[in-house]
Amino acid sequence: MAQQTTLAGLRARLRLPLIAAPMFLVSGIELVSTACANGVIGAFPTVNCRTPDELDGWLREIEARLARVAEATGEAVAPVCPNLIVHRSNARLQDDLAVLLRHRPELVITSVGSPAPVIRPLHDAGAIVLADVASIRHAERAVEAGADGLVLLTAGAGGQTGWLNPFAFVRAVRSFFAGPIVLAGGISDGVALRAAEVLGCDLAYMGTKFIATRESVADDRYKAMLVDSSADDILLTSAFTGLPTSMLKPSVVAAGLDPEALPARGAIEIGSDIDIGAREARPKRWRDVWSAGHATSGVTDIPTVAALIARTVDEYRRAGQPSGAAR
Ligand SMILES: Cc1cc2nc3c(=O)[nH]c(=O)nc-3n(C[C@H](O)[C@H](O)[C@H](O)COP(=O)(O)O)c2cc1C
Repeated sequence: MAQQTTLAGLRARLRLPLIAAPMFLVSGIELVSTACANGVIGAFPTVNCRTPDELDGWLREIEARLARVAEATGEAVAPVCPNLIVHRSNARLQDDLAVLLRHRPELVITSVGSPAPVIRPLHDAGAIVLADVASIRHAERAVEAGADGLVLLTAGAGGQTGWLNPFAFVRAVRSFFAGPIVLAGGISDGVALRAAEVLGCDLAYMGTKFIATRESVADDRYKAMLVDSSADDILLTSAFTGLPTSMLKPSVVAAGLDPEALPARGAIEIGSDIDIGAREARPKRWRDVWSAGHATSGVTDIPTVAALIARTVDEYRRAGQPSGAAR
């Protein structure tokens, strides 16, 4: 078995206890490598690459960039973290897994299903496996399956969201799990990040805030819509994906749909997720109807990834001092 990294070991290489969350059609090479170069774990779903070969190319490129940064600065960079969608609809799972095993990432996140089938090979390759979960039962099952850590999807997260209150969810999981916990949902600044640590989390995700960065591959209109929107513009619906998903209401309207009168669960035929290579005239979920979480209220501009991280570091530091949190 390869030498397994520990999360505590990785934490020493981070400027913040933060993961730039994996986001379909948003996280690309620039966002991920810039986050890692600036001391934040950079995650991306492997399905953002059109083929396993492309995934191999992305990982080579990111690794090469980070090696150059580490050499130039003499400092360790944050790890890159591929995200495997373990749902049975992902026909590429085994091929993508094979690519990851060759690259030996230090951290891998599994989502939308049980991590059980991929844990053993990833552990053998030395990776820490974080499994995302949205209920207590799924958290228990992921721990039983051997996940090293849990990503708790909570109410108001972007993408396919959780529904549990973060305070209640984190404390409930802490009562039976002492390992690494990552909070996902609603973290929009360094104050909220500090609060997540106080609550008992080791790390947190920021997704929505990273959509509106210059390096994200999201459409410019999507980024501008985030600046103009607030948490009140987030619609919780299962209509687009069959699972509860946080959608940006103005993008639903722009696609000619009535947010107040969407059909039930997964009933809207507007294209599938994984065929990202196909460019049809019909509006596609994720590509034309956009997702974001309650953290949208915290998006006020479209900075570079480095500027967003520097700002978050400052907020986080000030929030750690007595009465230092921004009001
Ligand atoms: C546009 C978009 C795409 C997403 N795609 C994925 C994905 O492919 N895999 C995944 O595990 N999570 C995905 N998520 C969820 C994020 O990783 C994360 O849980 C969420 O953004 C955290 O909440 P926040 O947006 O409030 O920070 C996505 C979220 C968004 C907004």
